[in-house]
Amino acid sequence: MYNDNPTIKNIDEDKQGDVFFKEQVANKTEENNKKFYIESYGCQMNFSDSEIVASILSDVGYTPTKDIDASDLILINTCSIREKAEDTVRKRLRVFDKVKEQKPGVLVGVLGCMAERLKKKLLDQEKLVDLVVGPDAYRDLPNLIASAEDGDKGINVLLSREETYSNINPVRLGSNGVTAFVTIMRGCDNMCSFCVVPFTRGRERSRDLFSILSECTDLFNRGFREVTLLGQNVDSYKWKNPDTDTTIDFADLLEHTSQIHPDLRIRFSTSHPKDITDKVLYNMAKYENVCKYIHLPVQSGNSNILKKMNRTYDREWYINKINRIYEIMPNCSISSDMISGFCGETEEEHQDTLSIMEIAQYSMSYMFFYSERPNTLAHKKYEDDIPLEVKKRRLTEIIRLQNQMSFEHNRKEVGQYHKILIEKVSKKSDEELAGRTSQNKMVVFPREDAQIGTYAYVKINDFTSATLKGTLVEETEYLQHQS
Ligand code: SAH
Ligand code: SF4
Ligand code: F3S
Repeated sequence: MYNDNPTIKNIDEDKQGDVFFKEQVANKTEENNKKFYIESYGCQMNFSDSEIVASILSDVGYTPTKDIDASDLILINTCSIREKAEDTVRKRLRVFDKVKEQKPGVLVGVLGCMAERLKKKLLDQEKLVDLVVGPDAYRDLPNLIASAEDGDKGINVLLSREETYSNINPVRLGSNGVTAFVTIMRGCDNMCSFCVVPFTRGRERSRDLFSILSECTDLFNRGFREVTLLGQNVDSYKWKNPDTDTTIDFADLLEHTSQIHPDLRIRFSTSHPKDITDKVLYNMAKYENVCKYIHLPVQSGNSNILKKMNRTYDREWYINKINRIYEIMPNCSISSDMISGFCGETEEEHQDTLSIMEIAQYSMSYMFFYSERPNTLAHKKYEDDIPLEVKKRRLTEIIRLQNQMSFEHNRKEVGQYHKILIEKVSKKSDEELAGRTSQNKMVVFPREDAQIGTYAYVKINDFTSATLKGTLVEETEYLQHQS
């Protein structure tokens, strides 16, 4: 049975690795008697948006709390990407209903993609919800809260062509003080046929370069050492400087951010294979502090399915792109997203996904079975005709292959040297710290006198399929082993 397989279950609960997770927040001094509690689901962009929401709320006197029972306002920042993601939110709303029964004055608000997708329907279906606020309407939250306090339901799901929240300084929630997300663009103009995001997030727009640079500089000055530039399709970042009339593309943005400080690492997500250019790849190669890691979702390895998905590249084109990346940066690691059982997918077409995974040598992947989303192009045009057991069996094959490849990647790391940024104490032992390589692999090592938030050099001497294990070495020893 599907739910008996913990690997797959984990994936569909949207709790994978860094990209899909649930975050319960927060930690700020109690300086006011109004408190909000927020949970975020879905992608990094949602997590990043919750920090914008926290900033807007703190301006009107709310402080965050981790204690739901102590809160005056309960917010849930939601995801609609798959049916399961929405089911999870509905389950959480049942829990919030109970809190509200105990404390009738508390307000419950639904934010994010589910609010945008369902709009007023959500208020009709969820009687105890007071606020429904879409991703472009967070500035309106204080007004909506005020009207909800007066007993009216507050709803704003207007999408915007301009909103980038560029002047809002996010309140970092649940932060490790070392790594942070910085949103560089919002929305998506691609129309992948399976995807709900263009409907929930609206048109693509890029944020002012200078506001991005000042946010990153501020983070660096506060001790942060890594920023992840976020967007649904970062490679199509485009911003025109009104003073000089020059246009800044993503490769330029990477160059500018990498020059803030050599000790500030830059990551980015997500790249669309059709848009990532040689200029981006050369700038990645040129700057040591731009991490050698690209998340380049393929979705399917078969050209016919890719066409039906409206991904605008085919198998051969994708393989050429992968080859180009490894040619320009032989030390780059690549990860992917895959969907099994898209409309009409045959066994041969599924085999093409397995084979492209081997060609691309992904270091890791996020893997899903197709979940039809209402009103998407695929919903209108194609029949969701692959039986659930077949979708799940194909997904299991994809996961099994990725696990083997990840294991193999890690095995090859034994004996290698890496520079890592130390992020945290290891989950398993206080005596160990954990940090990431440029290629986004977590390395656990005995702490000695190393400090969180600094760089260290390690030699890898052991591994599991998820983690590398290493020991600290001197910089000279590391440098001797760099070719
Ligand atoms: N903008 C990113 C992806 C955003 S959604 C990109 O273009 O790659 C994250 C992932 O969810 C997608 O890459 C896709 O693999 C998966 N996904 C999106 N819609 C889905 C659906 N209807 N069913 C199953 N998986 C889906
Ligand atoms: Fe969805 Fe495609 Fe846009 Fe990614 S690029 S958010 S998969 S429509
Ligand atoms: Fe989900 Fe919306 Fe992100 S649908 S994946 S939270 S953009």
